[in-house]
Amino acid sequence: MTSTRRRDFIKALGGLGLSALPFRTLSDHHLGVAPTTQDFCGDDSRSRPLFIPGPAGLFGRIGLDAPLRMRAAALNDADRSPWPLGFSVEHKGRRYTNPTLVLRPGDRVRIELENAINDPTIVHWHGLAVDTRNDGGGMTLAAPGERYAYDFEVRNRSGLYWYHPHPHGMTAGQAYRGLFGLIEIEDDDEHRLRAALDLVPAKTEIPLVLQDRRASDYAPNDADRTHGFLGGSVLVNGTACPYLDVATRIYRFRVLNASNARTYRLGLRAAGGEEIPFTLIGTDGGLIASSLPCKEAFLASAERIDILVDLSDAAVGETLVLETRAFDPMHTEMAVVAAADHAAMTNGAPSRTSGGSVDHAAMGHGSTFPEGAPRELLQLRVRERVSYAARIPARLAAIAPIAVGDATERPLRLGFAKSRWRINDRVFAMGETPIEAKRGTVETWLIRNYFNSMPHAMHLHGFHFQVLERQTSPDQLAPLRVDAKSRLATDLGWKDTVLVWPGESVRIAIDFHTPFADAQTYMFHCHNLEHEDGGMMLGVRVAA
Ligand code: C2O
Ligand code: CU
Ligand code: CU
Repeated sequence: MTSTRRRDFIKALGGLGLSALPFRTLSDHHLGVAPTTQDFCGDDSRSRPLFIPGPAGLFGRIGLDAPLRMRAAALNDADRSPWPLGFSVEHKGRRYTNPTLVLRPGDRVRIELENAINDPTIVHWHGLAVDTRNDGGGMTLAAPGERYAYDFEVRNRSGLYWYHPHPHGMTAGQAYRGLFGLIEIEDDDEHRLRAALDLVPAKTEIPLVLQDRRASDYAPNDADRTHGFLGGSVLVNGTACPYLDVATRIYRFRVLNASNARTYRLGLRAAGGEEIPFTLIGTDGGLIASSLPCKEAFLASAERIDILVDLSDAAVGETLVLETRAFDPMHTEMAVVAAADHAAMTNGAPSRTSGGSVDHAAMGHGSTFPEGAPRELLQLRVRERVSYAARIPARLAAIAPIAVGDATERPLRLGFAKSRWRINDRVFAMGETPIEAKRGTVETWLIRNYFNSMPHAMHLHGFHFQVLERQTSPDQLAPLRVDAKSRLATDLGWKDTVLVWPGESVRIAIDFHTPFADAQTYMFHCHNLEHEDGGMMLGVRVAA
């Protein structure tokens, strides 16, 4: 680390009221030594300060006023990243790994991707409304040693978006190994909110990137591919067992679930005590219309929530805990998978899973952290009393409902057959676009998940959608309903990813108006990255 970078790092930490921390904070829990067996991080001796992105370095914030080169490459210790891969960037004399791109509507983004890893790759800007050439959906790849130039205009509203690789069949491994970063778009609503609450990025407004890990490298077996790759420990911004020193005021947390497959049921509680509500202010596509108190929220792979935590009444010395609570992971596909294995065995064909039996370990049975198990994620330690009088604004943004009067409805069924997760019985084929939408029309999609299935986090490129209703939802969602359409708080606003539970149908509205006159092709897929790589994805063609 150069002395400039070292100073930046110290400055970033100093601004948080944390005194100079040893630089080992990140490498201490480098993946090789990430704890994998603990159930909770409550033991203070294992706890580490949450890593917070500063003006350079890992997740450092960059305002994009000039072209940028992002080099996908293997990292070394000097990069201060707990991941083995990352996007290295040099910009105005500063070095970044996986920079946070801070953009405004109307900005022109010029980024050259340089592929310095050993496999083909391409970067997808998750949630951004761009054309096919800039979407990075995987139809064009940069071979090792090659470059790919992006050039697009920012057409999204304020929100937390992100970027990650999208080479079909290799997305999961590359994202897992650290090739991902955040995009913040700031518009007037955003500036108003920050001003009203005196929120300062990297001080009182903090991204929380959740990713569960195994101590070993990414090497999914057949069962992992079926259920999704789960890890025994959760890193938050790359930190295991993190804590954050806080003052008696409002904090904003912008949470991204960057896990390959794990869903979280996020909630807040007093250490060892009662549940504490938070306020939801945003979802995937930015601020929701009005702030909404919430007790908890499910967050599936690739989903984002923007929340406020009001600590103004907290006592110095108190600790609050952000946790994932227990839930039924509803891996009800086991019967189907077992039957398929049985059929394969009785046909004398080699079984899909080793030994011909279903590997329950993959969905977490027998592991230290099965899906749906509770876990502390982050401690908020109240250290300082400050005077703070701001109130959370009731109105945050204007969100016009998509007019669905003339919409045609497209049925989409999620299911498992012949060892593969499918959409409308199909798996992905490059070049095919089983979904064809007419540019300038509105469609509703009824996404139905079979009972013998598991939850799928369905994501559409290129367009944000609105969730209209949920039908036949599992009982565990009932306490989270916010309206007569059985929607959840996290269904409000603009979405690009929606979790569909077994037996459930979710109806969404999509407005296919686009500024791009030529035919465009996008992807619709499950964001459980093992499912995506396995072909639970369809091409979507939008044309006049
Ligand atoms: Cu974030 Cu096609 O995905
Ligand atoms: Cu996407
Ligand atoms: Cu899935």
